Amino acid sequence: MTTTNIWRVKKADDDQLREKLAEAAGQLKEGGLIAFPTETVYGLGADARNTAAVERIFTAKGRPSDNPLIVHIAYREQLDELVLPYPPLAAALMDRFWPGPLTIVLPVRAGVLSPLVTAGLSTVGIRMPDHRTALALLAEAGCPIAAPSANRSGRPSPTLAEHVLDDLDGRIDGVVDDGPTGVGLESTVIELVGEHSIRILRPGGVTLEELQQAAPATTIDNGSAEEPEMAPRSPGMKYTHYAPQGELELVQGDSEAVVAYIREQAGAARERGEITGVLAFEERLMRYEADSVLSLGSETELDAAAHLLYAALRDFDVAGAQRIWAEGCSGDGIGAALMNRLAKAAGNRIICV
Ligand code: TXA
Ligand code: MG
Repeated sequence: MTTTNIWRVKKADDDQLREKLAEAAGQLKEGGLIAFPTETVYGLGADARNTAAVERIFTAKGRPSDNPLIVHIAYREQLDELVLPYPPLAAALMDRFWPGPLTIVLPVRAGVLSPLVTAGLSTVGIRMPDHRTALALLAEAGCPIAAPSANRSGRPSPTLAEHVLDDLDGRIDGVVDDGPTGVGLESTVIELVGEHSIRILRPGGVTLEELQQAAPATTIDNGSAEEPEMAPRSPGMKYTHYAPQGELELVQGDSEAVVAYIREQAGAARERGEITGVLAFEERLMRYEADSVLSLGSETELDAAAHLLYAALRDFDVAGAQRIWAEGCSGDGIGAALMNRLAKAAGNRIICV
């Protein structure tokens, strides 16, 4: 067991913030594991050049070693040391979306990062988070910081410091608590295809529509569905993720049919004595009967739904839900990321009614 420090910075003034982050950054520089907030979810940081430190990330999370980590930077100047020269499109994307929830996969410079960070790939995913506390911590640490989401592997990503502690208390050196994160879902991971197009490996905080404005030929990679024997381009996408402990089913289709299906299924499960949960939009919330009926807000405000999703999945665990049904939503804008995470939470149990 390690003692996990908590630095609460939510109401800190500038001096207090500097003092607390100096302590946290000091531990990062010495090979410590420090969780910190970003605009997407909390990350679990370690010095990306230090193999012993990075190894501790994999152990603390229980993460498979073939799943590479995203490297976080505070300044563009840090980038040239880490990656090989990149095409103008990459620079344009950085100008437009950094700091922000966009991870760009680029060819890595040999020998700079711990080989565990890239999991043996010739590329590395880099991002600059749009979060005052994260940027201040990264700048103070002064080194590239590898940071996956700060959850136990397979659990929903943390959007509060409490979620980090629920999963990792006693396994990491500290957490910087700055309250809830913004977007609530992880960054969009992309790679460049040639000089002018983009492939989305994981939908996230920056939407397809926004990327298409920068590069009209942007496409979404739907994993290895067509070529199951091929390794997925983004190794993380092959694992069941974000899953609550109960069995979740994602139900899509005409809203009346969705309501009818979920009511029938949940009713039957309750009769069998199972603890049930429904994750629904405000518009139809009152129509469900289950042990926990949780709201994602209005289906016309999917940004707010993204913000609520992971906490709701964790709440089902607290309630002990054994069977859960989730309503689907539009796949436009942030809806693409929301539906992607719901499908993963469902382990691809997707019902079209
Ligand atoms: O918003 C985020 O991205 C959060 C915060 C903490 O920054 N981080 C995060 O990290 O979600 P993680 O480790 O949970 O997810 C990283 C994803 C995985 O799906 C991984 O396979 C993919 O990025 N990835 C990392 N490096 C890659 C690479 N070189 N090529 C392809 N995919 C990569
Ligand atoms: Mg993760």
